[in-house]
Amino acid sequence: MYWCLWASRAGLHIRGNRARGKATALRLAASVYGGPSYMQRWRTTDNALKAIAAQHCDSLLILDELAQVEGKVAGECVYMLANEQSKACATRNGAPPARLSWRLLFLSAGELGLADHMAEGMKRTRTGQEVRMADIPADAGAGLGAFENLHDFASGAVFSGHLTREAQVCYGAPGRAFLEWACDNAEGLGKRVRARVQALARQWVPDGASGQVERVAARFALVGAAGELATEAQLTGWPVGESERAACVCFEAWLRARGGAGNGEVVSMLRAVRRFLESHGEGRFTWWHRASDDHNAKTLQRAGFRRMVDKDGKPIKSDAEHQREYGECMAPTDGECVSVEHFVLPEVFRAEVCQGFDCQAVARFLLEHVALPPGAGRSFVCKQRLPGMGLPNFHRIRPALFAIDVQPVVPAWLGLCTRLHGLPPGGSHAGRLVGRGKISPRAAISETHQNVHQRFLRSRQKVGLSCNGDRPARP
Ligand SMILES: Nc1ncnc2c1ncn2[C@@H]1O[C@H](COP(=O)(O)OP(=O)(O)OP(=O)(O)O)[C@@H](O)[C@H]1O
Ligand SMILES: [Mg+2]
Repeated sequence: MYWCLWASRAGLHIRGNRARGKATALRLAASVYGGPSYMQRWRTTDNALKAIAAQHCDSLLILDELAQVEGKVAGECVYMLANEQSKACATRNGAPPARLSWRLLFLSAGELGLADHMAEGMKRTRTGQEVRMADIPADAGAGLGAFENLHDFASGAVFSGHLTREAQVCYGAPGRAFLEWACDNAEGLGKRVRARVQALARQWVPDGASGQVERVAARFALVGAAGELATEAQLTGWPVGESERAACVCFEAWLRARGGAGNGEVVSMLRAVRRFLESHGEGRFTWWHRASDDHNAKTLQRAGFRRMVDKDGKPIKSDAEHQREYGECMAPTDGECVSVEHFVLPEVFRAEVCQGFDCQAVARFLLEHVALPPGAGRSFVCKQRLPGMGLPNFHRIRPALFAIDVQPVVPAWLGLCTRLHGLPPGGSHAGRLVGRGKISPRAAISETHQNVHQRFLRSRQKVGLSCNGDRPARP
């Protein structure tokens, strides 16, 4: 089945507290192919894991207890399993040994998801790793742990015990019977699976979702479609549609836990910038209006300056202005109306704020979300005269940063093009292609998003709004 699709390489991971029935689910999955020993453990070296993966080629690899392997190693193993080949290394005489390769989906379980497990070891997951091993919460939301229904058993524990016992005595037959059925019905099966997976993924994936979400949706859709075929082969006893429904519930749980259908990388970027300002905003940013004050508090390891902006959007640039506006002590009501913008020095922005990310991509993302207005004629920085510092470059980060909703990472203007028919008919090359049914609206979005963004900025200018903020442009 996986071979038919030739996509969505990688696996699924069941994550949840102790005694929720995670291992029970894995034992059931294992019983399709073999006995209790079919299930493997994460607690191996990566060398052993590549041999195990090769043994499970064209089948399902099941790995329990993610916590037993160190976070960093787990992250590397996820890449290795998904890349479908072992690391190249030389033998004693320098000749390269034969590389092991495989083609499989894996199913894993653990108390933590990969990101949290790696974070325990102070490692950050790459979005690629999270996409390659999609987390499903073990709690099905019915108050019964991993179960939605106890089928007349007294409790989750009793039901789990029953399933475990049955899986120990009766196993292996469904996998073989399914293979026989697939061979008997091989004619056009691949085409059918591909079409069904595409249709399900299209149905489940929200408009404007990132490619990462589409990849994971295809993986869940493949599981759902395979289950329906097993039902058709009379191997499950489930009502028609049950397998696809269950796969859809798991995909939606993954999407919710992920925090939306946007690009996971930009969500991580946004979090990194916010984290920096939240933890260093007080300590490493000098008040702008006190920059030339001899008695101001000293800022160690300065990352930049922070400037108050009053309720009318006017920046407070000097001590005298601050005194005039708020007197000796700012009243609480005034304090509530004041916002603060941060001016981050470019080197700190590159090396610390954006650590681990492409700083141009971070700046572009903030610019698109009106949180980083550039100076005239500059792409991401602005020049500001500062007492005692001349005219340095800064990344000016507006308070809008904290209002960006992490979930709909699709910016407003991209939302506009999502309703793609809003593009004038024949008004753009991509619009014309969509009109003629040559490319999908989603493909057109990526092709035209730059043009549409420009058009969006021009339309804001026309109605007297600035390009980078909500305040009217200065006359
Ligand atoms: N849904 C459930 N509700 C209540 N108890 C359960 C449930 N599922 C399993 N148990 C109990 O937990 C025990 C362990 O089951 P299982 O190995 O499937 O859980 P697990 O989620 O993998 O737990 P652990 O994290 O401890 O490995 C079972 O023997 C059973 O008593
Ligand atoms: Mg367990």
